[in-house]
Amino acid sequence: MNIFLTGATGFVGGELLVNLSQKAEVEKIYCFLRASSDEEALKRLENIFTLHDDFFDAEKIIPVIGDLFDEDLIKSLLTNKMIADTNVIIHSAANTSFSKIYNDVVEKVNIGGLEKILLWAKQLKHFETFLYIGTATICGNDIKLRIVHEDESPNIHARHLVKYTYTKMQGELLLHRHLPEEKILIARPSIIMGDSRQVVPRSPVILWAVATINLLRFVPVNADASLDMIPVDYAAEAIVKLLFANRKNNVYHISSGKTSATSAHLLSVSLDNYFKDKPRFYFPDKSLINQVKLWAKKRLTEECELFAYGEYLDYWNKTFTHPGELRILLAGLEPYLEFMNLGQVFDNSRLLEDVPSVKQSPPAHVYINNCMKFIEKIDIMEGAVNP
Ligand SMILES: NC(=O)c1ccc[n+]([C@@H]2O[C@H](COP(=O)([O-])OP(=O)(O)OC[C@H]3O[C@@H](n4cnc5c(N)ncnc54)[C@H](OP(=O)(O)O)[C@@H]3O)[C@@H](O)[C@H]2O)c1
Repeated sequence: MNIFLTGATGFVGGELLVNLSQKAEVEKIYCFLRASSDEEALKRLENIFTLHDDFFDAEKIIPVIGDLFDEDLIKSLLTNKMIADTNVIIHSAANTSFSKIYNDVVEKVNIGGLEKILLWAKQLKHFETFLYIGTATICGNDIKLRIVHEDESPNIHARHLVKYTYTKMQGELLLHRHLPEEKILIARPSIIMGDSRQVVPRSPVILWAVATINLLRFVPVNADASLDMIPVDYAAEAIVKLLFANRKNNVYHISSGKTSATSAHLLSVSLDNYFKDKPRFYFPDKSLINQVKLWAKKRLTEECELFAYGEYLDYWNKTFTHPGELRILLAGLEPYLEFMNLGQVFDNSRLLEDVPSVKQSPPAHVYINNCMKFIEKIDIMEGAVNP
């Protein structure tokens, strides 16, 4: 099997690359990545392996320099004879930003970039499977507090909290427009947070949100709403097993499902056990978020309910050198809180039945104990200003 992998330098793609490189069935992995020179490309790929002391097989892992923005991308892929023997494409590259300021880029990479790869794929002689790393959150924000099944998406009428999930939904529609069903495989992970092993996780993104919530301690979010979270090592292992399995379907959730779902409350118990010097977590009604924002702007009037929580306001006054810091954190955190309030759990019974070697993921409130040291070190302000 010769694989063309995009997004290998990312959170999920990096873990997929390491996992795939250890499979005897895989001959070559052409890694499509951004770099200004061959040396830089090789270094970026080697770093993926250095992080956890994995073996880098230079015979197997071959860089292909490119950018999904490139207008001439299809031509340069077609003229590259080395990658003409590709039979599996794994498209993990995406812009995953929730921030509105990146909406245009998100659209160009996630829809425009994908279409270029699809147009190239269609011209490959030995092409068998296009594995698209989608996201379960394409179901949109009208579905609340219940289990979501694969067949509910893509739904073109779904409303979206952020452009990112909209573009990932459009991505799936593009796949169906360009490829026959038997060549399509869609893996839709839920929220991927950290790593269940005692290692440095490849990405701090979702752990940043956890670290921020841990710092705030008073968090207006529905603490009992279920949260579907999985560790990246589980996600990569499940996706690779799915690729090699005899599949009955071509769309699969990669998720915690009901059995391993967590919640803000369950996560807070684990955090409280580790960070004993902080005030206990308190989750007031989510409607208080606007008062918190006004307080951070020093515009909250005295009769407001938030003043009843003086212990937390004192704590914030001591924690933040300026209330503006809280404002910046809230701006970054708010989309995550909105996702948390949705209470969506993604049914994983299809994956567990069709690929019996994939077992249930560990619950996030359990494996998060292996991420505590990393959470402690996250630069929270830096993560907020640089989403
Ligand atoms: N993380 C999650 O919680 C989660 C959950 C569900 C689904 N997913 C899906 O999983 C996939 C991977 O996500 P991730 O968390 O690994 O994201 P990530 O860490 O942000 O990685 C994104 C990857 O895409 C590459 N990329 C971005 N723009 C590019 C461009 N213009 N040209 C070439 N490559 C480009 C990045 O390359 P550079 O290193 O050069 O920037 C990086 O390798 C995405 O499709 C996402 O939708 C993620």
